[in-house]
Formats: sequence, C-alpha cells, structure tokens
Amino acid sequence: MDKKIKAALIFGTRPEAIKMAPVVLEFQKREEIEPVVIVTAQHRQMLDSVLNLFKIKPDFDLNLMRENQNLWNLTSDILLGIKTVLEETKPDVVLIHGDTTTAFASSLSAFYARIPVAHVEAGLRTFDKNYPFPEEINRVLADSVSDFHFCPTYGSIENLINSNVKDGLYETGNTVIDALLHTIENNPVDLSYLNLDKNLKTILLTSHRRENFGEPLENICKAAIEIVNNHKDVEIVYPVHPNPNVKNTVYKYLSNVERIKLIEPLDYAPFCSLMKMSKIILTDSGGVQEEAPSLGVPVLVLRDETERPEAVISGGVKLVGSNIEKITKNVDILLTDDNEYQKMAQARNPYGDGLASRRIADILIEKLS
Ligand code: UD1
Ligand code: UDP
Repeated sequence: MDKKIKAALIFGTRPEAIKMAPVVLEFQKREEIEPVVIVTAQHRQMLDSVLNLFKIKPDFDLNLMRENQNLWNLTSDILLGIKTVLEETKPDVVLIHGDTTTAFASSLSAFYARIPVAHVEAGLRTFDKNYPFPEEINRVLADSVSDFHFCPTYGSIENLINSNVKDGLYETGNTVIDALLHTIENNPVDLSYLNLDKNLKTILLTSHRRENFGEPLENICKAAIEIVNNHKDVEIVYPVHPNPNVKNTVYKYLSNVERIKLIEPLDYAPFCSLMKMSKIILTDSGGVQEEAPSLGVPVLVLRDETERPEAVISGGVKLVGSNIEKITKNVDILLTDDNEYQKMAQARNPYGDGLASRRIADILIEKLS
C-alpha cells in the first residue's frame, strides 16, 4: 500500500466535536488514513464532555477558551495556534467543520500553509451576512478556501453551485446523524437523576445564538413562562448554555418559576435521551434541528431564518422566531391538535442515514491515495 493519508481533524466547540467524532472514529478504522486530532478548545467543558463520550484523545490541544471571549482574540489565537501545529505535523489534508470561529480561522490557517482543506457540513446558507452572525460569513469563507466540500444535502450542493463553487462537491449526509444513531444505540441514559415529573409532558428548550442575545432571548423566556401558565400538564426543561450572555438573562427571568427546570448543559448521551422523551422541542440550535426529526419530535425553531430548510420542507420543523405570541400559539396547537402534532412528528428526516463519515473516508481515500 502507498503511504498513509495524514488527515488532521480540527474542531473546538460542542457541536463540531459531536459531528466530527464519528469521522475520527471512522478514520481510526481505516488503514489508509492516519488521523491527527487537533482541538482548539474554543469550548472547554462542553468539548471535553464529547471527547470523553467518544473516547477521543486529542493529539494537540490549544486550550484557548477564555471567560466571555471575543471574536477578535479567538480568531487570531486560532490562526496562529493552528499554524504552529500544522508546521509540526505537516498533514496531507485538514478537515474542519461547519461555521464556528474555529472552522473559519483553522481553514484560513491551513490555506496559508497551502494544505488542502476539506469542509464537513459545507454549503449551508441563509444568504444573509448578518444572520446567523457571525456563522454565515464563517462558512462562506471556509467554503471559499476549501478543496473538498462534504455537503449534507443536495440543497447545500446547489447553494455552492449558486455561489460559483463548482469543484470538489460531494453529497454525504450530515455526520450528526451518525453521532445520534451511534449514541442512541450504544449509550441510552436513565434520566431519573433529572427528577422530571412523569405525569407532566416535557418541553425541551435550548437557546444560545448571538442574534437572540438581549430582547429576543428575554421574549423567549417570557414565552416559556406563558406556556407553563397556560398548560398545567407541561414541564419545561432548559439546559442553559454557559455563555454569560445567555446564562445571565435566562437565570434572571426563569429561576424559581414553577415547572421550569434550569439545568447545566447535559452531556450528549443524556441529551439524546432527553430529546427522545420530549413532547416538543423549542430551540435555536442548528444541531438539534437536524437531530430531532430522526427521533419523531416536533421542533419549533426560535429563529426567523434557517440555513437548514430541508426539515421545514419535510414538515418536522417550523420557524417561530422569538415572538412571544407566535411561540405560544404554535405550542398550543401542538398540545391540543393531535393531527397537527402527528404531521410534524412523522415527517421524514432529510439529513442522512448514519453513513456520512464512511462516505467522507471513502472519498478522501479515492482522491488522495
Ligand atoms: C459558539 C459558536 C456558535 C455555536 C456555539 C455552539 C462562534 C463564533 N460561535 O458560540 O457558532 O453555535 O458555539 O454552542 O464560533 N463557555 C464555557 N464553557 C464551555 C463553552 C463556553 O464556559 O464549555 C462560555 C465561555 O465563557 C466562553 C463563552 O461561553 O467565552 C462563549 O463561547 P464562544 O465559543 O465564544 O461562543 P458560543 O456562544 O459558545
Ligand atoms: N447538546 C448537548 N447537550 C445540551 C444541549 C445540546 O449535547 O445540553 C447537543 C445537541 O444534541 C447537538 C449539539 O449539542 O448535537 C448542538 O450544539 P449547540 O446547540 O451548542 O450548537 P449549534 O448546533 O447551534 O451550533
């Protein structure tokens, strides 16, 4: 056999780790590939929790997270930190994921080092540079320096073609489905330690996006209070993101509200079990929008636009923004109209079949061996 392909996988936040973990595990199984795992630790605790679950030991850890960090420092720290590691490891290809600062700054660092870049979850777009901020621009920039575009759906391939990116386009499915199916199958979690009331319906709530900081997040909190006031048979569970811009607002509005449970971010395995047992999910998370349709749980998305239109089209996901009336009205419908509920619950998941990582490994072996 020819020399192994040295593939550096770079990630730093919780969602990137969840979605890159199956790719790392797949590469470890392939004799043609030598994986090198580099973490920026843009997130610290939430990254480590995913690394533990998937038993991944990074080869390099830049340990960059700072309390309430800003985009300028984070970007320049990643750009330079990754430069040093790439000079030492000299990989044949660098894989980055999605639209975080880690993804964008690492792709630029690799491009400056003239190393081919492979973008996992390429081609997502709202075509609005301010929404989501700064993720839309992060992914546009990452796509523009990438040589391989591993697109989750054909829609994301079309977005790239429309952006004049013509080469290296591959439809692979989203690796989040690989991670979800692996975790549901291998790590089911007994959630009794959360002390949820079995007589109540669980609504899962998460929100962390920068565009929702301030008034929109305050409105989301007010909507949550209205929901538990209107529905005495409902309990809301909210694993609160540790970003201080989120945590401070959420605890200010929702501490000590009856039937609203604020908890620390959950490890991925219990979070999957919690999604599965929830009646409805309210979220502005990208990953959760992709996962929930596989579990048959309707999702109301707390955003006005999404780069993930496929699940809206297939019916499992609905956009409700941060408008109090729109949120509460849509929750009312789902809780009282079983026909509407079943339509959403039974929609098909458009994001993949759990084999995306395998396709990514096959493509890189075919093209780089
Ligand atoms: C980041 C990504 C966002 C992604 C989100 C997923 C950017 C610009 N933003 O946003 O695209 O959707 O992650 O969650 O890349 N913190 C901790 N512990 C942790 C993680 C975060 O304490 O494990 C706190 C720290 O104070 C940190 C702050 O959260 O400074 C913000 O983290 P940062 O990665 O900059 O922004 P996120 O809002 O997490
Ligand atoms: N998630 C988790 N624990 C939580 C909340 C979310 O493990 O308490 C998982 C979720 O299943 C999804 C990912 O984290 O796979 C999404 O991360 P996040 O919402 O932070 O980022 P986004 O996807 O919006 O970039």
